[in-house]
Amino acid sequence: MPGDKSISHRALLLAARAPGFSTINGLSDGADVAATARAVAAFGASVSYEQGRVVVGGCEPMEAETVIDVGNSGTAIRLLTGWAAGVDGLTVLHGDSSVARRPMGRVAEPIRLMGAHVDGRRRGSYPPLAVRGGDLRGIEYSPPVASAQVKGAVLLAGLAARGPTTVVEKVPTRAHTEEMLALFGAHVEVDGGTVTLHPGPLHPAHVDVPGDPSQAAFWVVAACITPGSDLVVEDVYTGPRRTAFLDVLRRMGADVVVEPTGTATATIRARYGPLVATDVHGEEVPGLIDEIPVLAVAAAHAEGLSSFSGAAELRVKESDRVSTTVSAVNALGGQAEERPDGLTVNGSGGRRLAGGKVDSFGDHRIAMAAAVAGFAAAGPVEVTGWESVETSYPRFTEDMALCVS
Ligand code: S3P
Repeated sequence: MPGDKSISHRALLLAARAPGFSTINGLSDGADVAATARAVAAFGASVSYEQGRVVVGGCEPMEAETVIDVGNSGTAIRLLTGWAAGVDGLTVLHGDSSVARRPMGRVAEPIRLMGAHVDGRRRGSYPPLAVRGGDLRGIEYSPPVASAQVKGAVLLAGLAARGPTTVVEKVPTRAHTEEMLALFGAHVEVDGGTVTLHPGPLHPAHVDVPGDPSQAAFWVVAACITPGSDLVVEDVYTGPRRTAFLDVLRRMGADVVVEPTGTATATIRARYGPLVATDVHGEEVPGLIDEIPVLAVAAAHAEGLSSFSGAAELRVKESDRVSTTVSAVNALGGQAEERPDGLTVNGSGGRRLAGGKVDSFGDHRIAMAAAVAGFAAAGPVEVTGWESVETSYPRFTEDMALCVS
């Protein structure tokens, strides 16, 4: 499994700020995380790739001399908005045409409340963004959208603030920022959905990045829908709010067994079996937001009508994933329909989908979800825009070949 993408971004951002040398094993090798590595280097950190590990020399960040290009990564631009708010000087952040469409008001607003100046297109709420950092104060903030990226941006800005910074989440999101802050020696307190950071110096750390559960989900669903499959995925992160896709698959009757191998890692075994429809509601969504395209593929093979609701956030991901997931499922011969806040999928009751041509719309998760459907389809599946998988899982094609051997 590639290293977890969310953990990888945060490991780099914190290592870059911890004076001394940190080592990171298993960093995600996708283009998104490479963009964050280039960004921290532009602020003066050293980043060297050495035989399977990355060594980061951290320092007090300096004003970057160049515009920071985050490529396709919404996580990078949002986390860097908070991170750069603590840098004395001007930071300009931009990305590709997908990033240019992603709303940034959700991070710009709290960062402004902390005292930084954030501007951007459309009245300061779309990239490119200009962040003038400096004299920050800690705040207590309750994000209006459930987003680990917003929590992360605010806490990263809090590192450079006067006084504590508190984020209160109504629906808690993935815990990587608070987990990584603690690993790098920050004083963080977690109480349910409330995280408080007391600013103080960071120290270098060694990070072992576990496998990415969002990537494991592709192989797990492939096994669940493809007759004769028996698949094992090792060293998968199973910490808070990342494994709800497994709960959903179990509700669908999938044969999925999780064997813990550490406090937040496990081996997952998945075998083929008949699936039944399920309903996924809003409270569950932050725990499986990135897995919905591939869960829709599972639902397309189940008996009955599945629904995903309270998931309007999907519309502002790398693509409008309500629309692109529905069009992928339908292009393959399934039956999916858009809802304003999600989608419904009428399953085939175990019959193979026909196969067909799917446009990824430049979205890595749509491309990989379609490829997974190809394992079980009656005819070939052709994905256009396949190169998008480079953003998170460059070895996906090789790993796909492993699955059929
Ligand atoms: C991420 C959080 C999620 C997720 C994204 C990675 C993170 O976004 O979709 O792929 O690393 O914090 P939101 O929390 O904004 O939904």
